[in-house]
Amino acid sequence: MILIIDFGSQYNQLIARRVRERRVYCRILPPTVDADEIKEMNPKGIILSGGPGSIYEENSPKADKRIFGLGVPILGICYGMQFMIDALGGEVQAAGRREYGFARLEVVEDEGLFKGVASPAECWMSHGDSVIALPEGFKITAATANTPIAAIADPARNLFGLQFHPEVEHTPKGKILLKNFLFDVCRCKRTWTMKSFAEESMVRIQQTVGRKRVILGLSGGVDSTVTALLIHRAIGKNLTCIFVDNGLLRKDEAKQLKERLTRHLEVDIRYARAGGKFLEGLKGVLDPEKKRKIIGRIFMEVFEAEAKKIADAEFLAQGTLYPDVIESVSAFGGPTAVIKSHHNVGGLPKRMKLKLVEPLRELFKDEVRRLGKELGLPEELIWRQPFPGPGLAIRILGEVTAKRLKILREADAALLEVIRERGYYRKLWQSFAVLIPAKSVGVMGDSRTYEHIIAIRAVTSKDAMTADWARLPHDLLGEVANRIINEVRGVNRVVYDISSKPPGTIEWE
Ligand code: XMP
Repeated sequence: MILIIDFGSQYNQLIARRVRERRVYCRILPPTVDADEIKEMNPKGIILSGGPGSIYEENSPKADKRIFGLGVPILGICYGMQFMIDALGGEVQAAGRREYGFARLEVVEDEGLFKGVASPAECWMSHGDSVIALPEGFKITAATANTPIAAIADPARNLFGLQFHPEVEHTPKGKILLKNFLFDVCRCKRTWTMKSFAEESMVRIQQTVGRKRVILGLSGGVDSTVTALLIHRAIGKNLTCIFVDNGLLRKDEAKQLKERLTRHLEVDIRYARAGGKFLEGLKGVLDPEKKRKIIGRIFMEVFEAEAKKIADAEFLAQGTLYPDVIESVSAFGGPTAVIKSHHNVGGLPKRMKLKLVEPLRELFKDEVRRLGKELGLPEELIWRQPFPGPGLAIRILGEVTAKRLKILREADAALLEVIRERGYYRKLWQSFAVLIPAKSVGVMGDSRTYEHIIAIRAVTSKDAMTADWARLPHDLLGEVANRIINEVRGVNRVVYDISSKPPGTIEWE
């Protein structure tokens, strides 16, 4: 295992991904973890991440300096390297010029981390401080014009530092540097596979749960479906799933999901139809946050009522993924970003006195899909685009009514049909329609129309943290617009959303 100490860099998840791509298991921990705990975990190596702080600022994050005495190889990246140098008695100073972007790296030592990296190599810099004096034992292994100390090594102690970011695509040889660290320096083995993960986590689930009953909120999305499958494999009939149909799903989705889930998962699934309750609760509500809260509350009520029928439940399973976990742990030990209120069932476990089981907590979305494949889940369940808990309600601006839901469903179905036919469904992170219930004038046949507007949102993304609007072919967009305007009553205009995230978000509300 490799341990990544998180000093708050925006690239931390990327470091984790790079390590796991090499089939080495890794974990990200905040700098508050102390050296004894680390020793206990027995990592093969430690990576100190970059971060926005300045080492000589009093409040900048610091890790336990005793890690340098553990005899474990350590690689410091950017701020992580500066922390290491400062901790070991070297010197860091504000650079004369901030350096941001590409730089040409002259490799001084083509051994150690730089084995197989030809000089010069391109690298990606992003720093305001630089190392100006090295502690004893260190030597310079690479330099750029602006940063004479761009890479360092103390081979005797297995300590390494890189001022640039090896984890980003803009450092083309970065993967080699990380590979050398993992295998030559840390002597890691490539044992992290989805098969081994599945086996280990089934054992862990069995140990945690024993013969007790687990309940799980199944949405039909890939995360909850894979969670269900994994737990079912581990404990069989002691898993009971609850599917809440909130009436805010896409056209025919509830029906289709029910059929697919029954066909592919031999799991006990209770279906709670509650569309009426949700619509009733949303009556007259225009504010997006209010909508989300109301939907969250009703979901909990329906789920709880259903769960109470399962008398012996002691555990609640959730398909929480690694990005959700990391988002709630900041470099400074506290929460940074608040995850939207019902990305998960929030307060439920506490209220119902249930213990949590989250077997996917360590995985990224694409790893979950691989795990699903490993477990034999069919493609149609693995490759579903993400769909938000509050469903179509946050894609109807203004009040949610049965009539508006119908318009949006029809428009959305037409869009998805074209997207699928043209082979774009998997290429897009998400693609959906949004109803703007403002009216605009049009002409159909010889008559004037005055009807609603549909916006199309299609984005590419790796993890939903950032996203870009998809450059869909114009004729595809034209076909979508034609179909919606011709087929969906109440719509006479279609527009395409060309905002990226940030500053936009993927959903409109
Ligand atoms: P935003 O709109 O914040 O969305 O860019 C990021 C991703 O999260 C999904 N999303 C949700 N998922 N419950 C969910 O389960 C929610 O309340 C929720 N809100 C947004 C969204 O579809 C996108 O994939």
